[in-house]
Amino acid sequence: MEARDPGKVRPPFWLLAELTYRCPLHCVFCSNPVDHARHGDEMDTANWKRVLGEARALGAVQLGFSGGEPLLRDDLEELVAHARGLGFYTNLITSGVGLTRACAKALKAAGLDHIQLSFQDSTRELNDFLSSTKTFDLKAKVAGIIKDEGYPMVLNCVMHRFNLQHVGRIIEMAERMGADFLELANTQYYGWAWLNRAALMPTAAELREAEAVVDTHRARLAGRMKVIWVSPDYADAKPKPCMAGWGAVFMVVAPDGLAMPCHSARMLPGPPLPDLRSMPVREAWYDSEAFNRYRGQAWMSPTCSGCEERHHDFGGCRCQAYLLTGDAAATDPVCTKSAHRGRIDEILDAATLRSREVPEQPLRFVPGAARDAGLVFRSDQNSL
Ligand code: FES
Repeated sequence: MEARDPGKVRPPFWLLAELTYRCPLHCVFCSNPVDHARHGDEMDTANWKRVLGEARALGAVQLGFSGGEPLLRDDLEELVAHARGLGFYTNLITSGVGLTRACAKALKAAGLDHIQLSFQDSTRELNDFLSSTKTFDLKAKVAGIIKDEGYPMVLNCVMHRFNLQHVGRIIEMAERMGADFLELANTQYYGWAWLNRAALMPTAAELREAEAVVDTHRARLAGRMKVIWVSPDYADAKPKPCMAGWGAVFMVVAPDGLAMPCHSARMLPGPPLPDLRSMPVREAWYDSEAFNRYRGQAWMSPTCSGCEERHHDFGGCRCQAYLLTGDAAATDPVCTKSAHRGRIDEILDAATLRSREVPEQPLRFVPGAARDAGLVFRSDQNSL
């Protein structure tokens, strides 16, 4: 990551439009807030169009339509067409549920540039278990539709203790499906993944073995399919440059119109998040207290402000610091210089102990399996 002038606020480059928290899947690692059912009021089409226009005028170029499942919005095609007309490069981030051939064609005609399709695993059993839906076969069909319709395709798979040993098969599946990119996203522990972290957490040895498999395939696939291995947070000695810095590159807009520097920011204490139903995007980005709170370096603890790495990691992740220490301005506990690193090591040690209890039978989508594996599925009923 490049060093950046901390005093200069540039316009957002990425806008992630979380159109809805509604989703047909119930993934155990979902990054939506665990109280998502309480934030039910979605912005209407006119407000979304205005927000997109203001963000583009500010300089944003990349646009992701996300959720929840964005295909549940009746106005998705209209929003894609509007965004394309504004000059955005448009991405659809989807579970695949609802992406019929007719829908893929209509979105293409509206100007959609790119599709990211999620899988939970390379096996039907684990894919369906982790999402608590019978969707593996549907996703495989949707991957074919995406390719047939000429879209560039990213397959995304969230990685954790239950599927790391399948990483080679996941890569081969993506290759068979003709993916242009495969994102192997090690679980980030927010939202539902935070609730399920003890069950999802792999050991350092499992991660090392999986990464070695990835390296082997990556060399074999060079020039054909790009394989992205998103580093696991807790197993690293250095924090990640979360969101490429707070309020530096990304603006996330929640379904109800709250503007956020990251997808988890609504659970942080502190100043209210700007509401784009009543505040222009420019004001939210440049002037709101929430976006300015962790910009630059003035907020950093002496541990961070005196560390050379601050130019590269921008202080790590504020949400991770808050979840693990109760203080969003604390040094990210993943950092070995943090006074709280012991908390991370305890969690990793617990994962090593637990690895001796991995179920011998593959997990299946049957009643009771989630409870036996120590998992809570995302659902409106479970919403906290
Ligand atoms: Fe919120 Fe990292 S996820 S700052």
